[in-house]
Parts: sequence; C-alpha cells; structure tokens
Amino acid sequence: MSGSIKGRNILVTGAAQRIGREIALNLAKEGANIAIHYRKSEEDAVALAREIEGLGVKAWIARADFEQNEYDGFIERVAAVAGTLDAIINNASIFTQRNLAGLTLYDLVRNIHVNAWAPFELGRDFKKMMKRGHIINILDSRTSGYDWSHVGYIMGKLVLTELTRMIAVDYGPDVLVNSIAPGLILPPPGKDEEFLKRMDRTVPLKRHGAPRDIADAALFILKSEFLTGAVIHVDGGMHLMDYGHGPHPD
Ligand SMILES: NC(=O)c1ccc[n+]([C@@H]2O[C@H](COP(=O)([O-])OP(=O)(O)OC[C@H]3O[C@@H](n4cnc5c(N)ncnc54)[C@H](OP(=O)(O)O)[C@@H]3O)[C@@H](O)[C@H]2O)c1
Repeated sequence: MSGSIKGRNILVTGAAQRIGREIALNLAKEGANIAIHYRKSEEDAVALAREIEGLGVKAWIARADFEQNEYDGFIERVAAVAGTLDAIINNASIFTQRNLAGLTLYDLVRNIHVNAWAPFELGRDFKKMMKRGHIINILDSRTSGYDWSHVGYIMGKLVLTELTRMIAVDYGPDVLVNSIAPGLILPPPGKDEEFLKRMDRTVPLKRHGAPRDIADAALFILKSEFLTGAVIHVDGGMHLMDYGHGPHPD
C-alpha cells in the first residue's frame, strides 16, 4: 500500500472545479481511479471524467447535495459503482461571508452541516464499510486564528478540525485520518487574482499558492502509512501570523 497510489479508488468531493479538480486530476496522473463528486457542476464533472479516462485510469461521477443530507448512503452508492474505495478526500465546502454582527444561527448551522457534519458522516461510513484506507479532510489555515468576515465558515472548519483529531485516534489502526489546511490559494467568488496579490503581504512567503500545492500534499499523505492526525498547512506559513508580523525591530 505504501509508496504508490496506482490502482487505488479515491473519492474526491467537490471535484468538478477549482482545488478539488486539481486534486482529482493529479491523483489520476499518479495512476489512481477517481470518483468525482459534484453537486451542481455536472458538465464540469463529466468533462473531468473524460480527461481522467484519457489518462488510462477509471473515473466515475456521483451527485449529492450535502445540505440536503445526501451524504446518507453516498459511500455505499459510490463503492457499489467503483467496486471498492481506498480513500476519500472531503474537499466540498460552502464559503459564506458573515461577520459577527451579521452572523445568524442559520448561517452557523448551515456551515457546520456542510463543512463538518457531511465530511464526518462520509468518513464514518467509509470506516464502517471499507475498514481500511485514508480519509483526508480539507480544512483552512485560518482556523489557527480567526476569520472575522467568515465567522460561520470558520466555525464549521473548526468543528471539522476537532472531529478530524478525534477520528484519527478512534479509526486506527487501519484507517488513517489526516488533513490539509490551505492558505491563500484561489480567489473567492467575485474576486480576482489581483485580490490575492494584495493579500500576499500577509503571508510569510509573500505569495499565494496554487491548487497544485494542495494536490501535492494530498499525494504525500496518501503515500504514507505512518501518518495520522496530521494537519499539513499548505499556506506559505500564514498560520504562524498569529505570532504577529515578525520579531520586534528592537
Ligand atoms: N480557495 C482557497 O484559497 C481555499 C483556502 C482555504 C481553504 N480552502 C478549502 O479548500 C477546499 C476547496 O476550496 P475551493 O475554493 O476550491 O472550494 P469551492 O470552489 O468553494 O467549493 C468546492 C465545491 O464544493 C461543492 N459544494 C458546495 N456546496 C455543496 C453542497 N451543499 N453539497 C455538496 N457539494 C457542495 C461545490 O460543488 P458544485 O460546483 O458541483 O456545486 C463546489 O464546486 C474547501 O474545503 C475550502 O474550504 C480553500
């Protein structure tokens, strides 16, 4: 199992676009068969499946809206089509903009539902059915501090952070549970590359990352057999900014 992911069946949620797409494509390039989960982006999911099949590996697409509880039975459904599953990558997420003044219970609960409960349910079913393999949860580097303009979102990711630690302990020795905490990677909807460039100064490495950086971390985790409970911050050091902006000039 160690060293290569060739021939492994990997489910990536929210895989039709953006970071999820890059993860799925890069794992396929390494020889994995990919189950592409999507909610609305069917056309992109189909196009990605064709591209992946063109690499000589298998691809399946599966739709589910996690806000509608469609994580129920989802692992069983995907495993039935793929034959088995060796890993799941919980990448799908909502990103709602609410500061403390605007936070509502609905927004908070919605974020916890989609960004923490759905990955938890998928992981729990994976453990129950597959007995062994990898779970990777995609977190957010900003859980190291606060994101004052996305409070519900960050609370959802904080819940997922804690659940990831707990299940890493509980699901051993056969299911390895790890997470990736991306920093500045892609602009949110309505923002462009210029927005990211303006934020680059907040990163110790003074630049933002690319989806490929997240895909590389996923590959690293999947190749390891002695890693569980790890949070890999793929963020140019941004999670350390809680320490301030560097040593005092004195
Ligand atoms: N972008 C960044 O720079 C950044 C930074 C830190 C952390 N992250 C984390 O990295 C991951 C990927 O980021 P991203 O920006 O690529 O994500 P994204 O584009 O915001 O969302 C990924 C996918 O999630 C799916 N999704 C949304 N609501 C859903 C629901 N109710 N049920 C099922 N699927 C749903 C959507 O699928 P459809 O399109 O098919 O509807 C969407 O394409 C996320 O977990 C995010 O929190 C990203």
